[in-house]
Amino acid sequence: MHKVSIIGAGNVGATAVYYIAEKNLADIVMVDVVEGLPQAKAMDYLHASPMRQYSVHISGTNDYKGIADSDVVILCAGIPRKPGMDRMDLMKVNVEIAKKASQAIAEHAPNAIVIVVSNPLDIIAMTVLQESGFALKRVMGMAGVLDATRFRYFIAENLGVWPGDVMAMVLGGHGDSMVPMARYTRVAGIPVDELIDPGTLEALIVRTRTGGGEIVSLLKQGSAFYAPGASVANMVEAIVKDEKRVTPVSAYLRGEYGYQDIFLGVPVLLGKNGIEKIIELDLSPEEKTALDESAAAVKDGVDTLRSFYAPG
Ligand code: NAI
Ligand code: 2OP
Repeated sequence: MHKVSIIGAGNVGATAVYYIAEKNLADIVMVDVVEGLPQAKAMDYLHASPMRQYSVHISGTNDYKGIADSDVVILCAGIPRKPGMDRMDLMKVNVEIAKKASQAIAEHAPNAIVIVVSNPLDIIAMTVLQESGFALKRVMGMAGVLDATRFRYFIAENLGVWPGDVMAMVLGGHGDSMVPMARYTRVAGIPVDELIDPGTLEALIVRTRTGGGEIVSLLKQGSAFYAPGASVANMVEAIVKDEKRVTPVSAYLRGEYGYQDIFLGVPVLLGKNGIEKIIELDLSPEEKTALDESAAAVKDGVDTLRSFYAPG
């Protein structure tokens, strides 16, 4: 049985456990700083196993040693923004959490594939890559799967079709400048622009970009977790079953799409070795401009972060 560890047993982490257990994908360990929380959630899940018929083992701990020998580690630890904190303060705290977690992953689960979920996603992924010292193919961010499933759902809802028939691609950073790719989006093989007029399609693209924010506004506290948890499980499944799934993830780029030294959402082949290949799509000039803008926004965040830690 594979082993998956989840660092941060909050809303996203614990929801990912649900989907992973329901599919019997792997034994699961939840790690959290709050005493009793991961233990309680693990026990609660185990109580449901006779009815839901999963046979995977689920446990919770406050000790990073619990992640030992994991095949996959998911980082979804973080703190929500508190009164008086600006975005940068929040970023610094989450970066510090990611640093500690990365060192623990490198020590206890040196062969793991790491899926970063914590925001700001593309920046935390860079921190994890640097702090873990892992190979590029073993560190990735979860965002494209979520952004694409939102785009898929909005298209399906608009057309009144089964959501599973919609396949979509979303590139770029996990922020308002993400790039939903209408040209690479199809409904049972039919190009989406043959089914939806340009104005409506543009509105669905905008809604995809702001889909996370729409949920934050409704919830008032916290952010989405059901679709994010399902997106994590989808990536875990691709890895532990070695599915070679073609899916967008935030990957470290070394020249692909013309970008260097940046994590950005691109289509990859996802299998037991992690990112087994980065797929380069042909982009139109408009698509490339949009991706450039998204990459610039991510780069700004990384540069800001580096300035905090620059000597002097
Ligand atoms: P949450 O607040 O419900 O859970 C976070 C958990 O992390 C808490 O249980 C907290 O105790 C724990 N934690 C804090 N410091 C820790 C440490 N050093 N070690 C272990 N655990 C620690 O938050 P939620 O909703 O689960 O979101 C988690 C992160 O994922 C946030 O940064 C959020 O913005 C991000 N997110 C990213 C998405 C994406 O598409 N990439 C989608 C949804 C959320
Ligand atoms: C989302 O897209 C908050 O990143 C999170 O829902």
